[in-house]
Amino acid sequence: MRIVVTRRVPEAALDILREAGEVWMSDVDRPLSPDELRKAARGAAAIVSMLHDRIDGTVADSAGPGLRVVANVAVGYDNVDVAALAERGVLVTNTPGVLTDATADLTFGLLLALTRRIAEGDRLLRARRPWSFHLGFMLGAGLRGKTLGIVGLGQIGQAVARRAKAFGMRIIYSGRSRSAAEAGLDARFVPTAELLATADVVSLHCPLTPETTHLIDAEALAVMKPGAFLVNTTRGPVVDEPALADALLHGEIAGAALDVFEKEPEVEPRLLELDNVVLTPHLGSATVETRTEMALLAARNVAAVLSGGEPLNPVHP
Ligand code: DGY
Repeated sequence: MRIVVTRRVPEAALDILREAGEVWMSDVDRPLSPDELRKAARGAAAIVSMLHDRIDGTVADSAGPGLRVVANVAVGYDNVDVAALAERGVLVTNTPGVLTDATADLTFGLLLALTRRIAEGDRLLRARRPWSFHLGFMLGAGLRGKTLGIVGLGQIGQAVARRAKAFGMRIIYSGRSRSAAEAGLDARFVPTAELLATADVVSLHCPLTPETTHLIDAEALAVMKPGAFLVNTTRGPVVDEPALADALLHGEIAGAALDVFEKEPEVEPRLLELDNVVLTPHLGSATVETRTEMALLAARNVAAVLSGGEPLNPVHP
């Protein structure tokens, strides 16, 4: 059974996949083009995909009727047309849980880098600009007593909330429905409009869906407080990037930290020029341990399905 792996994965995951079938792994250090992806998929029983691969009905058709599972190495699966695959009898799996702490850690790192001007200070020193300590020098914003607004209190949102509590922040959250986790986190459910209007830091943890695409647009940014910060570690298209650049340039909010981008890997050029913006290249899950766990989980999902068992992490249309 042919198993197609669209981008290099750790050896430990390959070992599992090799037990389950005959592995073909892309050896180019870039995402496959849509054509290359369709070509590679031919005859596949399983595809191990990355978040940059668009896996739709055309890819499944190219694989043919033997395709049984697409294992996406990510918790997000907006790159996979789950409904089109379900119509063709193909299962889809993702990798929840294993990247929760790594992503929450990075979210908090960005939040601190932004509010305490860490990246900006680093740039100042590297530029060898003169400086001296004084009481008004490069002041940032403290977190104790401030309100963190979490959009989407799923596993990652909850992990961010736990970290925020340790920093003395108040937690409010919004989402499709109230979360059973709110009591343990002392978090208050509010409508998104109220969250945007009252939070000192807004952190995005909702999945990318048609409803959350451009959730943070010009109108939403105008509602935020002028002193508020925005952090996005979920998916780029949740934020309208040109509208964010406008809002920052007009002082509508105090700053933004982004790990994900609307047209990844491109970044809205005006954001690159702003000192009150911190940018990282989709590093949320980027620790050795977490990326290995993600690949292992995807491989285990493939092995389970190809051996006739149930997938460990099925996603549903
Ligand atoms: C995911 O798993 O969806 C993350 O974006 C990968 O870091």
